[in-house]
Amino acid sequence: MTTTLRIGIIGAGMAGQAHAFGYRNAMMARDLADVDVQLHTIADPNLELAQSVAKRYGFANAVADIDAFLASPEIDAVSVALPNHLHAQILPKVIASGKHLFAEKPIGRTREEAAWLADLAQASTAVTGVGFSFRRLPGLAALAQAVENGAVGQIHTVRAWYNADYAADPSGALSWRYSQEQSGGGALLDIGAHAIDAAQFVVGPVSRVLNSTLRTVITERPKPAAGAIGHGGATTSERGPVTNDDVALVTVEFDGGAVGQISLSRIASGIPNSLGVEVFGSEGHALFDSISAGEFHLFQNGTAAAAVNGPRRIFTGPEHPYFNDVAAMPGAGVGTGYAEAFVAEIQEFLRCVRDNRTMDTNFNTALAMMGVVGAALEAAETNTTADINHPQPA
Ligand SMILES: NC(=O)c1ccc[n+]([C@@H]2O[C@H](COP(=O)([O-])OP(=O)(O)OC[C@H]3O[C@@H](n4cnc5c(N)ncnc54)[C@H](O)[C@@H]3O)[C@@H](O)[C@H]2O)c1
Repeated sequence: MTTTLRIGIIGAGMAGQAHAFGYRNAMMARDLADVDVQLHTIADPNLELAQSVAKRYGFANAVADIDAFLASPEIDAVSVALPNHLHAQILPKVIASGKHLFAEKPIGRTREEAAWLADLAQASTAVTGVGFSFRRLPGLAALAQAVENGAVGQIHTVRAWYNADYAADPSGALSWRYSQEQSGGGALLDIGAHAIDAAQFVVGPVSRVLNSTLRTVITERPKPAAGAIGHGGATTSERGPVTNDDVALVTVEFDGGAVGQISLSRIASGIPNSLGVEVFGSEGHALFDSISAGEFHLFQNGTAAAAVNGPRRIFTGPEHPYFNDVAAMPGAGVGTGYAEAFVAEIQEFLRCVRDNRTMDTNFNTALAMMGVVGAALEAAETNTTADINHPQPA
């Protein structure tokens, strides 16, 4: 039996376009042959942008009126990729419409907003997934699998990072990302969401923030011209204040007892986009860096003679997660990267809708990440430790 899914995307900016790319290429997965993915509508108040994205990615329609779009019975599943301050406005409407929902991280701006949204998602009978795209990179997924299988023993020390340089240029536009009110956090939340999620994915839940330091290095920026999206965009001559962090250094403790350092910067000049996780355990260590997203490094105690001892570099291939569904050719090492993660996450969303099952990255995953961000904000403000206080859904 074929399942027909008519897809809409709300938000045609940077992440919305990545979702469009994901839907467009989802049929690379052989097991989705029984899903008829129809690229239906791109919705964005910026109609010109919506039209351009629809045309480029092969969606049939473009609209500006999001409420009318949500009322349409012609859409079965919706991706939402809007600025963080709009999550709490739009996600409840999508959930109320009964359509399947694939939302972008972080899910609101605060742990309270995230808890409220997670509660709404929990009550829905539709699929409600969240795009923690980095988990779908074959190299990180393979590392997590190896760690789960005991490759490094009991983990005691963790290093996770996200270095990016999208904000390193002070003449870059003061988009919603630089407003604490609109974003809920600077590097700590925008890119930290991924690094914190990756650390929890590999190691397990963080139980406490031991220490947190937040710094705003570039304190003002030119205001954006109308229609600016993503990290680029035209600016005006007027300037405004940056009200969130460029750099966040967070020390954490995990449920299992390991300690970890999470280092986040959006002004890491010369490192455009690197998410990493490194874990040290009783039996060895493992390392992943998204700059080489199709591989990970593994060192295992006592497996080689001293003269040739050292970490091994493992190139992902058909035996690793996601690889077969996203790689252009079926051989190890042909290369998978950031783009393929969006294909893999959309494939997983489509499978969950077809099979009517819960997605592994869902609103509770987002809530667990937001708990760490909330505690990091609290620890930075009070200069003390902060327990992860996950607000309980009502
Ligand atoms: N998973 C990832 O790797 C990843 C990457 C980038 C962004 N994101 C997430 O995706 C979401 C969107 O981020 P983005 O980078 O695509 O943002 P963006 O600024 O590039 O695009 C936002 C879009 O929302 C539209 N929009 C609709 N209503 C709006 C309003 N009232 N005000 C302003 N814009 C409005 C804009 O026209 C624009 O097209 C965020 O929650 C972000 O955290 C995730």
